[in-house]
Amino acid sequence: MQQHNAGSGGPQIVIEGVNHLYRPPAGRPVLALEDVSLQVRPREFLALLGPSGCGKSTLLYLIGGFLPTETGRILFDGAPIAGPGPDRGIVFQHFALFPWKTVRANVLYALEKMGPPREQRAKRAQSFIDLVGLTGFEDSYPSQLSGGMKQRTAIARTLAIDPKILLMDEPFGALDAQTRHLMQSELLAIWRKSPKTVVFVTHDVQEAVYLADRVAVMTARPGRIKTIVDIRLDKSDPNVAKSSAFIDTVDQVWGLVRDEAIKAQEARLSP
Ligand SMILES: Nc1ncnc2c1ncn2[C@@H]1O[C@H](COP(=O)(O)OP(=O)(O)OP(=O)(O)O)[C@@H](O)[C@H]1O
Ligand SMILES: [Mg+2]
Repeated sequence: MQQHNAGSGGPQIVIEGVNHLYRPPAGRPVLALEDVSLQVRPREFLALLGPSGCGKSTLLYLIGGFLPTETGRILFDGAPIAGPGPDRGIVFQHFALFPWKTVRANVLYALEKMGPPREQRAKRAQSFIDLVGLTGFEDSYPSQLSGGMKQRTAIARTLAIDPKILLMDEPFGALDAQTRHLMQSELLAIWRKSPKTVVFVTHDVQEAVYLADRVAVMTARPGRIKTIVDIRLDKSDPNVAKSSAFIDTVDQVWGLVRDEAIKAQEARLSP
């Protein structure tokens, strides 16, 4: 049985016929996405899975409004995306912290623009620092933190602004296995308490199946949506990851991803 209650209304994000061509100043243009169509429901947790270079980050940047949509359209709550906004919080693949600001100041930064009174901002920042397990490191600078701690700071900063949708680009990719598992269950717990739409990019099939309501598997570059797999598991079961249903789903999704990874490798090896 599916435990996550995705919204029953219309889609919150509509992606239709989107292509994305990078035109680097030197070298050949790269078609990163080709005819991508996808809908994400309100409060749904959608994972995007696909081989390296298939355009996952590109798709996330387009939804975030960090890149312009040139072909096709992307609607958010019915309106075309015109640029970045506080309604869409993004956690980047590579940590994007201000190196000259402390953990606390990095988390406070986004809140300062949102206008609650100072004490409330400080309280809220602290609660998200605590939530990601960085209590005691409030006054540390990014250069004094491990990769995982930097990423947790970035997650705290994004969660603190309470965006309508969370765009997460391999947020746990750089973490050790233990921290990664902890963060995965923390994220699920946060999401259950305050369900919001999440688009979560990962390379990790288990992570996608564990976290998501649906897993969209992308093809090798140029990226298209190959298949969408509905994940029907009882996520409230603490032992779900050991269940045969979980293992079978991971196997099924692995099969889809492996085919594309092989194609991507062949494309890299061919002249
Ligand atoms: N700024 C850019 N200029 C030119 N090409 C780019 C640029 N950014 C990405 N690309 C190319 O577009 C394709 C898709 O890149 P993207 O970063 O979206 O892939 P990805 O699926 O996120 O990969 P990974 O899993 O390695 O993070 C890649 O082939 C990449 O080389
Ligand atoms: Mg990427």
